[in-house]
Amino acid sequence: MTDLLNLAPLTPMHQTVRRPLHTETTTSQALYLPVAPPTLGSAGAIIGRELYSGKAFIYCPFSAFGDGLPGGNMIVMGDTGRGKSSLTKTYAARQIRLGRKVVVLDTKEQKEREEGEWAALGRSLTGMAPVKFAPGGGPGASCINPMDPSISGKRQAELVRTIVELGLGKTLDEFAGSALRIAIRRAHHRADSLGRTPVLADVAAALRAPEESDAVAKQRTRDELLADGLEASYVLDRLCGSEQDSTGDLVGMLDGPTSLGVGLDTDMVVFDLTKVPSGGVAMTILVAVISVFLEEVWLRPLCECGTEPSQHERVVVDADSGAWEVGPNPATSCRRYSQRKRILIAEEAWHILGTPQLAALLEKFLKFARGLGLSCIFIVHHLSDIDDSPETQAALKMADTVVIYSMKKAEAEAAVARLGLPAWTADHIVRLRRGIALWVVGEVIYPAVQHLLVVAEQHLCFSSGSMTDVSTSYPDAA
Ligand SMILES: Nc1ncnc2c1ncn2[C@@H]1O[C@H](COP(=O)(O)OP(=O)(O)OP(=O)(O)O)[C@@H](O)[C@H]1O
Ligand SMILES: [Mg+2]
Repeated sequence: MTDLLNLAPLTPMHQTVRRPLHTETTTSQALYLPVAPPTLGSAGAIIGRELYSGKAFIYCPFSAFGDGLPGGNMIVMGDTGRGKSSLTKTYAARQIRLGRKVVVLDTKEQKEREEGEWAALGRSLTGMAPVKFAPGGGPGASCINPMDPSISGKRQAELVRTIVELGLGKTLDEFAGSALRIAIRRAHHRADSLGRTPVLADVAAALRAPEESDAVAKQRTRDELLADGLEASYVLDRLCGSEQDSTGDLVGMLDGPTSLGVGLDTDMVVFDLTKVPSGGVAMTILVAVISVFLEEVWLRPLCECGTEPSQHERVVVDADSGAWEVGPNPATSCRRYSQRKRILIAEEAWHILGTPQLAALLEKFLKFARGLGLSCIFIVHHLSDIDDSPETQAALKMADTVVIYSMKKAEAEAAVARLGLPAWTADHIVRLRRGIALWVVGEVIYPAVQHLLVVAEQHLCFSSGSMTDVSTSYPDAA
């Protein structure tokens, strides 16, 4: 015992040393087998490395679709500064190199640059400035018209109703809903007769001045029809302002004809919403309008060769039933119609997922969009940012891939419970280092995927300028 207490100072001979570990491929395979998830194939965007196997981690919802991955939608979550935006930015850039088109709803301002976080990446990929929305409009600001004729009739009626309901903070009853539909129709007629595009103010005017014939058709008096729609007209007035009042929440953003200043066919279109007050009604309405506008204008069927299905030949694949598919287009030497794939990215997506009306719109959008080769990516901090309404639950269920960066214990436990993940993942998530995430792809869990950035990408992903000394900002900055 005394011998043990009287230990001489450790000589190099006694120092603890790690025993050399001799491994060979079969040994590591044997160790790895019980936890090894299958790879996702070799086609797609390189994300980085799966740390448990050391294998490259390649992900592409379009290549893996149907093969264990029922859809292309993804949620990325985690504490601030863990690498959510960096992952999404490089992923988008790498997918664009594979021919995809990307739209980003950028809500996070990089203070030192006075523009959205995604602006630099968009400019470096396309040379185009972001499509900027600002309350009150102003030079260079864009506008989307919810009454734009490019939005089909039924979707437009739904959209204007959603705008009114969001402004009102409650759902419209049957009478008010009917008065609104009539007013939308009248607004189109009146604007057509004046040879211009209708705008939301025309709907408000039509609600205030209903036609006798519309009232009779609905077995109402003109005064009753006026009363049905009066509250909705007040909401539209408040949102869009008027000649005497320019303080409306949506003035300069949704109250005039559509002007984007950039073609939607560009590889990456960044909608800069950083000047729109976060969490306010304007942001929610703007996101609703943009999503429907994208659905109607951006998501139209188009082949990778740039031509529409009608320009391709039909090929009969079964003579008995007459079944056919869209085949080649000799004009572009395209051998078979292949839908152009698109990716929609929403930063701070709790605006969308946390608002039941928006989540409901989104659910329809996602169902419709899947057939048109769309993958949506939503970035949130925690699921506790998002309420638990049935609409939100339904939208969350549409995420086929979930990427979870490190979170605090309570948040991790809540996320694991809500997503139905095994209990061990909560402790594991808490311990993840920056740039490393747990991926759930379909039913398969990849416990630790390290996202790798090349030097050129580090400059575009660096978001910690305000918290970092110049000499330590990024590796080659000094
Ligand atoms: N895989 C990575 N390797 C090295 N650095 C990284 C990696 N991912 C992110 N970073 C760095 O970490 C910082 C924060 O990353 P990022 O902006 O992506 O975090 P975030 O999770 O989006 O944060 P927030 O929630 O505040 O938006 C950035 O400056 C970025 O350069
Ligand atoms: Mg971010």
